[in-house]
Amino acid sequence: MQRIDARVIQTYGIPRLLLMEHAGLALARHAQQLYQTRLGAPRRHHPIVICCGAGYNGGDGMAAARHLLARGFAVRVLLAARAARLREEPAVYAAILSRLGARPQEAPAAGASAWALKRLRPAGVVIDALLGIGMRGTVREPVVSLIAAMNRSGRPIVAADVPSGLDGDTGLPQGHAVRAALTVTFGAAKRGCLAARARPYVGRLVVEPITIPAQAMERA
Ligand SMILES: NC(=O)c1ccc[n+]([C@@H]2O[C@H](COP(=O)([O-])OP(=O)(O)OC[C@H]3O[C@@H](n4cnc5c(N)ncnc54)[C@H](OP(=O)(O)O)[C@@H]3O)[C@@H](O)[C@H]2O)c1
Repeated sequence: MQRIDARVIQTYGIPRLLLMEHAGLALARHAQQLYQTRLGAPRRHHPIVICCGAGYNGGDGMAAARHLLARGFAVRVLLAARAARLREEPAVYAAILSRLGARPQEAPAAGASAWALKRLRPAGVVIDALLGIGMRGTVREPVVSLIAAMNRSGRPIVAADVPSGLDGDTGLPQGHAVRAALTVTFGAAKRGCLAARARPYVGRLVVEPITIPAQAMERA
């Protein structure tokens, strides 16, 4: 999938920001459906809480936040990174969210689990966009604390691409992993997410094409 992503951008000239926008839109649609099933119309006191990492998976989450704001939801974005260190496309969304009054809140260096749990408890739905297919090795802080808080919150979680902490190739948790109700995966299902042992983490799996051209998929 990483090779396909690179080809889409380099061979077909489709900017990463466009893919992120479509990934965010797909995530927002699924989160909205889940929210409405539980609570009906958007309620101010029950926001959609979106946990974002420093990479492009986090960018997908912030793109979803913009769409959810436009659909009338209260949104809270928790960031497991320093906003100043975000890469180009995620930084674009972080800046937009700040201007829209939903500035991503940086997790503290100490006590991130309690900090996150406090913000997750009122959530109607949670989106997990901490780590996708770019995860390497055992999960590190503050992501560990945010995963623990999401799982403890008892709120339904929609995972972006791969549940954070789950190895997309093997389906094995790397120390800690999000237990999602639904995983919205982009382009194609990741092998590990199809393994029986991954089911408690993946939940229901839906594949969203996010406008990746068929030619790019065929040449994979
Ligand atoms: N073409 C596209 O743009 C496109 C298309 C479809 C989907 N996507 C999305 O992009 C995602 C991949 O983005 P990505 O390559 O930036 O990777 P990522 O999955 O967002 O993860 C990379 C980030 O996670 C951190 N990280 C890596 N391993 C970690 C660990 N064990 N513990 C804690 N933090 C860790 C990295 O920090 P360090 O750098 O400090 O290690 C880096 O900031 C996909 O899963 C999908 O959601 C992108």
